[in-house]
Amino acid sequence: MEKPTPETAALPVEPLWYKDAIIYQLHVRSFYDSNADGVGDFRGLVQKLDYIQELGATALWLLPFYPSPLRDDGYDIADYTNVNPAYGTLDDFKTFLTEAHRRKLRVITELVLNHTSDQHSWFREARRSQNDPRRHWYVWSDTDEEYRDARIIFTDTEMSNWAWDPVSKQYYWHRFFSHQPDLNYDNSEVREAVWEVMKFWLEMGVDGFRLDAVPYLVEREGTNCENLPETHAVLQFLRQRLDEHYPDRMFLAEANQWPSDVLAYFSNGDECHMAFHFPLMPRIFMAVKLEDRKPIVEIQEHTPAIPDACQWAIFLRNHDELTLEMVTDEERDYMYDAYTTDPAMRLNVGIRRRLAPLLDGDRKRIELMNGLLMSLPGTPIIYYGDEIGMGDNIFLGDRNGVRTPMQWTGGWTAGFSRSDPERLYSPPVSNELYNPKIVNVDSQSRSEHSLLAWTKRLIRTRKLSRVFSRGKMEFLSPANHRVLAYVRTLGNETVLVVNNLASCAQAVELDLRRFKGAIPTEMSGGSVFPRIGELPYLLTVGSYQFYWFRLRRL
Ligand code: GLC
Repeated sequence: MEKPTPETAALPVEPLWYKDAIIYQLHVRSFYDSNADGVGDFRGLVQKLDYIQELGATALWLLPFYPSPLRDDGYDIADYTNVNPAYGTLDDFKTFLTEAHRRKLRVITELVLNHTSDQHSWFREARRSQNDPRRHWYVWSDTDEEYRDARIIFTDTEMSNWAWDPVSKQYYWHRFFSHQPDLNYDNSEVREAVWEVMKFWLEMGVDGFRLDAVPYLVEREGTNCENLPETHAVLQFLRQRLDEHYPDRMFLAEANQWPSDVLAYFSNGDECHMAFHFPLMPRIFMAVKLEDRKPIVEIQEHTPAIPDACQWAIFLRNHDELTLEMVTDEERDYMYDAYTTDPAMRLNVGIRRRLAPLLDGDRKRIELMNGLLMSLPGTPIIYYGDEIGMGDNIFLGDRNGVRTPMQWTGGWTAGFSRSDPERLYSPPVSNELYNPKIVNVDSQSRSEHSLLAWTKRLIRTRKLSRVFSRGKMEFLSPANHRVLAYVRTLGNETVLVVNNLASCAQAVELDLRRFKGAIPTEMSGGSVFPRIGELPYLLTVGSYQFYWFRLRRL
């Protein structure tokens, strides 16, 4: 085993840490600017680590912070082993890592392994000529006819997955923007190079990688070029190397696929440790809009069991559009109708909005959705700013409207920077409902009743029991469909979760006979409810209200 670096020494080896984690996703650029140049940086982030720790998060997931022309906000990497000078230096990153670990915060970084920027030296060399030794690090063709069954992902910008290179006079393959050429994973040099990149960050002490866009690593004629066995073989190769040298680090797969296809990314527990549950997310929004539990129950019932050491990553919003790829056409129409009042809110196959505006700023629905996030099976991910109910700006282009500066205070720059507001990398949200004067950390820190304070309590309550992070889940099926109730169990511990998805109060009768004799204790306040008997257990649940009950046998 490698010797732990001084950075990692701060955290004990805990191979399943990701199962119990609460992940906070943020962009260094958007979080806090320490040097008044209008752009967030690592030194600024260090100053805000206490905030993240106090919120109750246990891990951070950082968007790409590498040198990049920033034509896809850093997902177009020009150098994998350095830091974008706008965000600081490698030493700043190391200091950040040490400081995060000192606060027991694990750090997950982005590894964009499907493609590079066209500015990466690998691609610049590869396109020099058709005979360049670097040529076969990318995928080339004389025609744009190959792999026609592969869909286009960025439907609003791209017409084809092939782009013509006028320099070397061939087409190159790209699944995303045309300035993001796909690496050629059939080439073992590429696989080795990517492992070297991983090693670089693992040596430094990074705890895990979000593996960006993993379904698309390998192309084969006659297939849709997604989830191919050859792609899984690449991931298993990387995992084997990881386990040999760094046993407590983690791979999180970004595979926007149906659960049955995502299952393959866990393999037999020898591929990725975690994977996002993409289809669940839009169905939470659907269920709350329809006031019916069906979408959530259905998708969970279609979610296969995963190996013991693996875990789903679940989320409400992230840095991308709210993707509607994993829903039926009918469901997509419904989501567009229900959640986009302005066509500018749509992007590609999704909706570019943040959580609070999607829910009309309705505090009750925001709480309910967060309650679901924290009690359904999986590790929850909170997108920066959603804990204070930040808004968005749909007029900023692409997905920039959900990546605006974190709102720390009510000042002109939202307390994000000491620079002039004009200098900021992006204007803060300025509309009447969500501008920094209305929504900011500072004011919410002064009230026990703010969304921020409430979110902290919710996280604290979740951490009372590992039943949420590791337990099994079973749905109850009360006649009232507006109520979503489930039981989470782990060993002797049982928690009953009851959610009212409706805007008005509901009564529900739950069949809890198998818990006869147990006394439900409401977890947020400790109130004791009547003992469970033979008869259906009657509860009333207010508008969008939810309860978590510990069932104790006394
Ligand atoms: C992933 C990222 C997205 C990026 C794309 C291409 O889907 O989440 O932000 O644009 O990959 O790298």
